[in-house]
Amino acid sequence: MKTSITIIGLGYIGLPLACLCIEKNLDVYGLDIDKNKVSLIQQGISPIEDPYLKEAVKKTKGRIKVAYDSKEAIKNSSVIIVCVPTPVDNNHLPNLKPLKNACEEISKSIQKDTLVIIESTIFPGTVEEIVLPILEKSNINNFYLAHCPERIDPGNKKFTIKNIPRVIGGINKESTKKTAEFYKSIIDADIIELSNVKAAEATKIMENTFRDINIAFINEMAKSFDKAGIDILEVIKGASTKPFAFMPHYPGTGVGGHCIPIDPYYLIERAKQSGFDHQFLSLARKINESMPDYTVELLENELKKLEKSIKGAKVGVLGIAYKANVDDTRESPALKVIEILKEKEAEVFVFDPYVKKLSNINNLDELMQKSDYIILVTDHNEFKDMDLKKLKENNIKIVIDGRNCLDKEKIKAMGILYHGIGVS
Ligand SMILES: NC(=O)c1ccc[n+]([C@@H]2O[C@H](COP(=O)([O-])OP(=O)(O)OC[C@H]3O[C@@H](n4cnc5c(N)ncnc54)[C@H](O)[C@@H]3O)[C@@H](O)[C@H]2O)c1
Repeated sequence: MKTSITIIGLGYIGLPLACLCIEKNLDVYGLDIDKNKVSLIQQGISPIEDPYLKEAVKKTKGRIKVAYDSKEAIKNSSVIIVCVPTPVDNNHLPNLKPLKNACEEISKSIQKDTLVIIESTIFPGTVEEIVLPILEKSNINNFYLAHCPERIDPGNKKFTIKNIPRVIGGINKESTKKTAEFYKSIIDADIIELSNVKAAEATKIMENTFRDINIAFINEMAKSFDKAGIDILEVIKGASTKPFAFMPHYPGTGVGGHCIPIDPYYLIERAKQSGFDHQFLSLARKINESMPDYTVELLENELKKLEKSIKGAKVGVLGIAYKANVDDTRESPALKVIEILKEKEAEVFVFDPYVKKLSNINNLDELMQKSDYIILVTDHNEFKDMDLKKLKENNIKIVIDGRNCLDKEKIKAMGILYHGIGVS
């Protein structure tokens, strides 16, 4: 028997999920408020620059029943999955408007026995305190509700939506069971049923704060060791030989994307309301948010050696996306680096092969021709694999390697000043 599924929000997590459901021969409605996205998906074009998604959306052409009108979709679906964004506002406070709006739409048309799953990342308590009361406005009592946080890592070829284990927590046992059955039917990985919904909400937030804190820790070590003339990469290499209790994390220009820099704020705020002050999480955020400034400072330090000033310096920034080989610029530290450079009145040239619309330069060669100094912010393959000889040919005088991904010895051997994050 075919089951109609509605997926609300066709972004980095909703779209691959919709494609997977189609692959599993399910009837899929896809809802999104972004008309441009809907139109592209309708034509079999992925609005997201990702090789897997491009292929998957092409294959599903016409089969995801995309719409802006939610009524028909919600009425006809036995499973509704919410994949809308959960950002923070300018004051780092959770913005649950997209989630609330999506739930309002569901409550208008939900039918009995429908299973509603929230995949968006939320703070503990959101499902029971915010989602459930909205759905209850529908006057339909017998629906099921659970949280199954998405753990997808865009660009990761080894761990994909199909094989990442899923954690589930429902508002009651039946909701958890039904949700587990649904995911078992579409993915090939362990499904872990937790005893309650808050535990599932907290699981995702803890995973992401764990990462933020560890990155902050290694960024701090990188800054400290830099002053002591110790190479952080060598230290990480050494520590990684310990067969237990050490997990390598790497320093860099900053943390970006829609998850790691945002999710800690969800917990910080929620805990504050319950009277708990998350000092560790706040400090990690502060350290990671300082990394774009630190990166520009590294350039200024090298400029001083050449008796040059940042004002008027021709600086080429490599990368705008928040991580390698993706087009996502949300919370990207590169945007901050560019802003700081402009504030300091540098002449800034920017190129990202995945983010052409925000680049003011067409390709790497042109960027090198125009720049005297380079800051690499995103370790896209195109940058990691660049022909380093071109740096010399184009008379580049300083390279700041914000991802420690270039061959520093080769660069220095050409007489170019090099500084990475904790590496010089
Ligand atoms: N991007 C990731 O790597 C990732 C990984 C795991 C979890 N998450 C979580 O998943 C959620 C979604 O993230 P994303 O990266 O897919 O976001 P996204 O911005 O790429 O996609 C969300 C989509 O929802 C649409 N939308 C917003 N409000 C809507 C509404 N009321 N009705 C219908 N559509 C609506 C937007 O137009 C957008 O297309 C977030 O909570 C995020 O924290 C993201």
